[in-house]
Amino acid sequence: MKQALLEVRNLKVWYPVKGGILGRRVGWVKAVDDVSFTIEAGQTLGLVGESGCGKSSTGKAILGLAQISSGEILFDGEDITRLVKRNRTPYRKSVQMIFQDAYSSLNPRKRVLDIIAEPLRNFENLTKAEERKRVDELLSIVGLPATAAAKYPFEFSGGQRQRVGVARAIALKPKLIVADEPVSALDLSVQAQVLNYLKDIQEELGLAYLFVSHDLGVVKHMCEHLAIMHNSRFVEFGTREDIYENAQHIYTKRLIAAIPDVDPTKREENNARRKEVAIEFETNQERFYDESKPFDLKTISNTHKVALP
Ligand SMILES: Nc1ncnc2c1ncn2[C@@H]1O[C@H](COP(=O)(O)OP(=O)(O)OP(=O)(O)O)[C@@H](O)[C@H]1O
Ligand SMILES: [Mg+2]
Repeated sequence: MKQALLEVRNLKVWYPVKGGILGRRVGWVKAVDDVSFTIEAGQTLGLVGESGCGKSSTGKAILGLAQISSGEILFDGEDITRLVKRNRTPYRKSVQMIFQDAYSSLNPRKRVLDIIAEPLRNFENLTKAEERKRVDELLSIVGLPATAAAKYPFEFSGGQRQRVGVARAIALKPKLIVADEPVSALDLSVQAQVLNYLKDIQEELGLAYLFVSHDLGVVKHMCEHLAIMHNSRFVEFGTREDIYENAQHIYTKRLIAAIPDVDPTKREENNARRKEVAIEFETNQERFYDESKPFDLKTISNTHKVALP
């Protein structure tokens, strides 16, 4: 079998809860509790679930920004969890992140030239002229004019700022980008634009994405595969068709029912379906959850897994 670009095995991210005057650990927040998945080169995995279910913690663990309690993360077949920090350099070039809020992730006192050139200065030895050329190329890939280089983040709209963040993320030619709610802070019309060019640069650069969102509607056209997360665990994993056309877990069905209607003539029908799913969720909890914990995933087809007892 072909080696996956990223393989996450039995990942747990547990944050200690400290209490009392001595600040001793009194418990754990199990943000990610035994999650496994793979991403192939050039592909997109959507990671979808409600606020607090553990999406960002999963992304941060991959980037080395959250401590892993147990499990393994393999990149190109190499276990990166065991590498000491200084040995992670090639990995740190290969995996980059795009944030939800481009404004707070871009240094407001730096010009766009310096923001985008920062990773280049950290990892590559370029002359000023070479650096400027690379920055201009990157700006043109994300659809910004070369004149943007001399500006500050506040001089841009939200969508344009997100493009600056993307230009910085792709500066080192990564193989994987963790995109954590990259369009959630943007207007609907701008969302579509940003999603489209994320797809365009994916093809151009052969990028893989882990695409984090709380909205199944947003990720539909981005993702070949989807992982649905609830209470720190995956409740369903499959291809786009498996998830959108053949959802099996009640939580996935709920997320699908929550996708806003585009067609006003279907509104009543959809409202009725939403009610149905809500009732099914209330009355059938024990079929899908052990206490409130989702069951382990069971394979139901070559591509489709569901958390069932
Ligand atoms: N550094 C931390 N220390 C302690 N608890 C944390 C930390 N980061 C996150 N958590 C907790 O872990 C759980 C999962 O958080 P996480 O940020 O991964 O969720 P999320 O799915 O990304 O949510 P959102 O959609 O709101 O961004 C939450 O209960 C959160 O409060
Ligand atoms: Mg998050």
